[in-house]
Formats: sequence, C-alpha cells, structure tokens
Amino acid sequence: MADEFDYDVLVIGAGPGGYVAAIRAAQLGLKVACAESRETLGGTCLNVGCIPSKAMLHASEYFDAAANGTMAKMGIKVTPELDLEAMHAQRRDSVKGLTGGIEFLFKKNKVTWLKGRASFEDAHTVSVGEQKVTAKNVVIATGSTVTPLPGVTIDQQVVVDSTGALELPKVPEHMVVIGGGVIGLELGSVWRRLGAKVTCVEFLDQILPGFDGDVRKEANKIFKKQGIEFKLSTKVTSVAVDGGKATLTVEPAAGGEATTIEADCVLVSIGRKPNVEGLGLEKIGLELNNRGQIGTDHDFRTSVSGVWAIGDVIPGPMLAHKAEDEGIAVAENIAGQHGIVNHDVIPSVVYTWPEIAGVGLTEEAAKEKGEVKVGKFPMMANSRAKTNHEPDGFVKVIADAKTDRVLGVWCIASVAGTMIAQAAQAMEFGATSEDIAYTCHAHPTHSEAVKEAAMAVQGKPIHM
Ligand code: FAD
Ligand code: NAI
Repeated sequence: MADEFDYDVLVIGAGPGGYVAAIRAAQLGLKVACAESRETLGGTCLNVGCIPSKAMLHASEYFDAAANGTMAKMGIKVTPELDLEAMHAQRRDSVKGLTGGIEFLFKKNKVTWLKGRASFEDAHTVSVGEQKVTAKNVVIATGSTVTPLPGVTIDQQVVVDSTGALELPKVPEHMVVIGGGVIGLELGSVWRRLGAKVTCVEFLDQILPGFDGDVRKEANKIFKKQGIEFKLSTKVTSVAVDGGKATLTVEPAAGGEATTIEADCVLVSIGRKPNVEGLGLEKIGLELNNRGQIGTDHDFRTSVSGVWAIGDVIPGPMLAHKAEDEGIAVAENIAGQHGIVNHDVIPSVVYTWPEIAGVGLTEEAAKEKGEVKVGKFPMMANSRAKTNHEPDGFVKVIADAKTDRVLGVWCIASVAGTMIAQAAQAMEFGATSEDIAYTCHAHPTHSEAVKEAAMAVQGKPIHM
C-alpha cells in the first residue's frame, strides 16, 4: 500500500474487535499499528469484562456447590471456607496471562502497539499521546463504557459498576443490583454464591430483555429459587450513601409510593454506551446515530472515506465474539477481500448457573414475521443433566412452519453456552429442524436435548 502513510492500518482500541482486526490485517501483509490507552491489551473483555467475570463465576460456582449441598448429594461432604483474596488472585492471574498473550501475538505478527490515547487530527492523521501517526485506513474499535444512572455517583466503594463489583474486598451483606440484565445476573450470582443477600431492581416487568419470553420467565424462577430477590417494574430514584451504607429510594416504574432499601453494596448495571469521547470525531465530520453509535455499512465503512468502525462502538449486540468477527471482516475488507459477518446468527450467553443461551429469533419476534413451529425439551428428561443433578432448564427450537428452517434456538442448561454453538452452526448452514433431529448426537450429553427439541418440532421426541 501507499508509502506516503506511516501505516496501512491504524486500529484505535485493542479490545477483542481491535486486537483481532490488527492481527488479521498483519497476517494479510499490511503494515499495522494499534493504539491502546490501557496499560494492557485485550480491552474491556480481557481486563474487566468477560475473562475476570468468568474467573469469579467459575470459582464461586465451586464454592456454592460445596456450600449448598450439591456436592454432598454426590457423596462429597465438605464445609467450604472462603479465601476471597486467593479467589481474586486467580482472577488476576487469568487476566494477566491472557492480556500478556495478546502482547505476544502482537509481537509475533509485527503489530506495533502505540501506547496512549488516540484522537483524530484528520481522517488519516491520529495523535496518540505525544506522537502523530498517519495511516491509509483507520479502524475505530474503542468499545463501550458503563451507562451512568442519573443522580447516582459510582464511588467504587459502596456504589460500584461491573469493574468495582469484580474486585470487592469482602462479601457484602446485602447487595442491590440495579438492572436485571447480563451483568446484574452474572455478578449478582457471584456474590450471592459467596454469601451475600442479593436484591435485583429491574425497571421492566421481566429480567433479561432481548431474550426469548419463556427463557426470561424460567430464568426468573430459577434465580428466585436460588435466593435472589427481584423487584420488577421498579425504578431507583436515588441512592444516598452514608458511613459505608446505601439507602436506595425506589418506586413503581409506572409511578406510585416510594419505599427505601438499605444495602452495603449497590451495583449499577443498566447497560453500556459507545466510547467516543475525546476521539475528535468532529474534526473528521463523523456523526453519531441517535444512540450515540458510529454507523457503518455492511463492510464496516463509516461515512468518512478511509475510516472504519467495529465492535461495541457500532450498532448490534455488545458482545466480544461479535466484535472479534467484525475485526476479522474489516481487516479482510481493507485488504480487498470480502469479509462478512452474519448479524442474524450471533449467539448470546449468560454465564450463570445454569447458563442461559440463545441464537436467532425469539419466539415472539419469529411469530411477528410469520407462522412458526416450536419444539421444547426439558433438561429434566436429558439423561446426562439428570445424572449430574442439573434438572433445571430446557431447550427450545423455533422453526419456520412452512420451510422448517430453524429461526432460533434457546437453552437454559448447565452447559447452554457450549450447546448453543451447534445451533449457531446449523443456522449458519441454513439447517431445518429435521436436519438437527436426524443428526447423530453422542450419548449421554446435554446436547442430546437440542436434538430432542428439534424432534419435538416434528412432534416426535423420544424421551418425553
Ligand atoms: P473494548 O473491549 O471495550 O475495547 C476497546 C478498547 O479501546 C479499550 O481497551 C479502551 O481502553 C480502548 N480505547 C478507547 N478509546 C481509546 C482511545 N481514544 N485511544 C486509545 N484506546 C482507546 N461479552 C461476551 O461476549 N461474553 C462475555 O462473557 C462478556 N462478559 C462481560 C462482562 C463484563 C463485566 C462486561 C463489562 C462486558 C462483558 N462482555 C462480554 C462484553 C465485551 O466485553 C464487549 O462486547 C467487548 O469487549 C467489546 O469489544 P470491543 O473491541 O468493541 O471494545
Ligand atoms: P443489559 O442491557 O444487559 O441490562 C440492563 C438492564 O437494566 C435491563 O434489563 C434494563 O431494563 C435495566 N435498566 C435500565 N435502566 C434501568 C433503571 N434505571 N433501573 C432499573 N433497571 C434498569 O446491560 P448490562 O447488564 O449492564 O450489560 C451491558 C452489556 O455488556 C450488555 O449489552 C451485554 O451484552 C454485555 N455483557 C455480556 C455478557 C455476556 O455475554 N455474558 C456479560 C456481561 C456483559
């Protein structure tokens, strides 16, 4: 590419979108730099998101299994003792190992890491800290940050966001989670398992917006059974902090009498917003849409020539794997190839116990588009789940009534996050429910429930 620029590609942000774009562009023979203002690579996901949250979820799951009698049911009697500092240390180790791994991959692929905050001077010139660099193509992959709740100050002591909630130095007595979405349920579960009383205040009449209706209802039931208290259709109007304690004032979402809740920890998890502050977008004339996101075409080109965007900063689900796939596609498009991402088939997983996963359309959305057939199979009837004492949940397959093509698959199961991959692959290949029903699945596996749910679409499950 052109010699007049320092780089063929400059990626801003080294999260799963940015670091993957940088590596793939380098693999395609381009001269690449990646600007990152954090001390370590990997973005939200590796530093304060997917990875540390899963480290805490995994460890706390063991604690819970020992404490709540699940292990005793299998003949293992233990009384667990919590060493929270050691649990945090293994979380930090996982993060260190993986962020260091990206640094290794940058060196291996000859991607230059420009340390510092990047801001556009013009469409091909970007200042990174003290230096100015030029690039023929600039990819914006700056990710997202926490959406603040008006009037509520996050002090990371009593009132925390997800980053603070990953690092609490002691188990709260009472944690109030504001927002019954993915972060609230995952991190609420961590601290519930370790001994906190957890109350979740959700503005809508059900948790997990965007998920299939049956799944939302069943998940609510399961979390309630585990001890999380839900206040649905409720809004928080203020949080007052005094002497390490918080007093939340809440009222019905539709308006009504206010009540108060006392807590020693409040987690604000009401969503995330695109990270565009200080990027100098006004200097290149790049406007945001009404949700503050950067709009792109299918190739991830923005409205400014030579400037591309991917990941949480553009529309679509704010998920690491979506950002990664867009990273690969944008690099391939810059290199003159045809990178594409099928945004209709992006799986979504909540890593609670059991896990909750889905891909494609919800039953509600599918019905709006036409006639559907639905097959459901309970995990209670799956031999492996039953043997493992994991009876909660189900698999649901939604297919087009005329063509039988699979439109969506939803699961609640201990390993739903793993099970959903086969559904995504089937949908990517345009499978019918019959295709899944006639695919041989190993026995005894949780995945057999996907096959049985597909058989249920045909009205012929065996084990139900
Ligand atoms: P990011 O990962 O946010 O990376 C952007 C990077 O850009 C950051 O490192 C930032 O420092 C840098 N940056 C921003 N502006 C500039 C600038 N001007 N100059 C230089 N650098 C800049 N998703 C999943 O799929 N699975 C999960 O299990 C999961 N768990 C999560 C748990 C939590 C607690 C959170 C908060 C998020 C989780 N997510 C999960 C979401 C996932 O982290 C994001 O979807 C993903 O990180 C988005 O990737 P990205 O590359 O677009 O942006
Ligand atoms: P979210 O969008 O998943 O959930 C936010 C919840 O807060 C919604 O249920 C919403 O109705 C509720 N809410 C909004 N305003 C409220 C208010 N004022 N009072 C009470 N409730 C209110 O957002 P969350 O959980 O913060 O996560 C942010 C993003 O991070 C998500 O988009 C998600 O994709 C990503 N993420 C993904 C994970 C995964 O893939 N496992 C894990 C964690 C985060």
